[in-house]
Amino acid sequence: MSGCPYQKRDVEKNEAEGEEGVIYGKYLQLDKIVDAQSLLSESKGNKIHDEHLFIVTHQAYELWFKQILWELDSVRDILMSGDVQNGRNMLTVLRRTNRMITIFKLLVEQFSILETMTAMDFFDFRQYLSPASGFQSLQFRLLEIKFGVADDRRVPYNRQHYRKSFNDQESEKLLHSEKEPTLLQAVERWLEGLEEKGFNFWGKLQANINEELKKKGEKIEMSAEDKEEQRKDLTKEKELFASLFDEQRHEDLLSKGERRLSYKALQGALMIYFYREEPRFQVPFQLLTSLMDIDALMSKWRYHHVCMVHRMIGSKMGTGGSSGVHYLRSTISDRYRVFVDLCNLATFLVPRHWVPELTSCDSSNCSNNTL
Ligand code: HEM
Repeated sequence: MSGCPYQKRDVEKNEAEGEEGVIYGKYLQLDKIVDAQSLLSESKGNKIHDEHLFIVTHQAYELWFKQILWELDSVRDILMSGDVQNGRNMLTVLRRTNRMITIFKLLVEQFSILETMTAMDFFDFRQYLSPASGFQSLQFRLLEIKFGVADDRRVPYNRQHYRKSFNDQESEKLLHSEKEPTLLQAVERWLEGLEEKGFNFWGKLQANINEELKKKGEKIEMSAEDKEEQRKDLTKEKELFASLFDEQRHEDLLSKGERRLSYKALQGALMIYFYREEPRFQVPFQLLTSLMDIDALMSKWRYHHVCMVHRMIGSKMGTGGSSGVHYLRSTISDRYRVFVDLCNLATFLVPRHWVPELTSCDSSNCSNNTL
């Protein structure tokens, strides 16, 4: 048992300590947590067994949301501090991001426990819940905001702003959080500062791609078969890469919300993709992969939730007043995804020999290395 936090002798003398040292229950304030399951059905004189599971499940979710917020705040702060030059901080960022992933996986799985309750069992106490709804989960909204879900991309809920479902104090917290930098912005800032001065990755990449596409065109003209088809494919490929190097087009997509990362940050991300095997880019590559995982897991959470809701209430309205399953389904889309740009970058991958060679400064540990 050594190493258990509640056995530490050096904590300050406080409420949690008895004569013999720290007391398990007091340290964890279990009186508050374990006594916090009041069944509404029981108070109405109609105790329904499964309401206990319903409450405990929601409480467990909220506790894990709290832990994710804890990790998320720290990751965002480290990235925003700009102090990511050394590998140690990057590893901390990666470890905490991976911890969030592990929790999210658990949260997706956790629905299966609640699914041991049948729709009829739920029906027996659902009447008591209105107008309470998961929609009013403050921590869930904070998670979305802090990751970088854009306010103007939200699906309208009961034709009013989502903050209207919260009391003044909660609304204040949400508003405050909306003004803070999001994880998306923190990642953007880090990606923007990634490239060593003087390497000119973007310029070299564009020159290489143009050169290779030109060679492709010449080959097509010399080949005997399918010329027309190949020319068409080449034109499409040229257009695709022209769009990548067109900054104005990027700005247009940004303003429509179809891209989320700045032009410079996108270049940094693509650089990491291409040079992922270089020592300097290995941890950054793992981080980008983890960020895509988080995005995917958040969508999986929404999907599993809506599947469960469907079998519990069919197409009935939600207790919070939404159209229920119909509303929830509409949230499983790219509107709620934060790091979708990182997935879209795979569209622009090119054969390895098209990628500009790194200078020694960019591939190894330069003194002014920005990672
Ligand atoms: C029997 C189980 C459940 C049912 C029938 C259910 C039903 C619903 C419905 C119908 C909504 C839409 C809002 C409304 O009109 O009320 C909703 C939203 C929500 N629920 Fe659940 N829910 C269940 C379990 C859970 C659990 C275990 C959690 C975990 C915290 C949860 C978290 C949420 C959240 C965060 C939202 C807002 C989603 C969004 O707006 O994107 N729900 N739920």
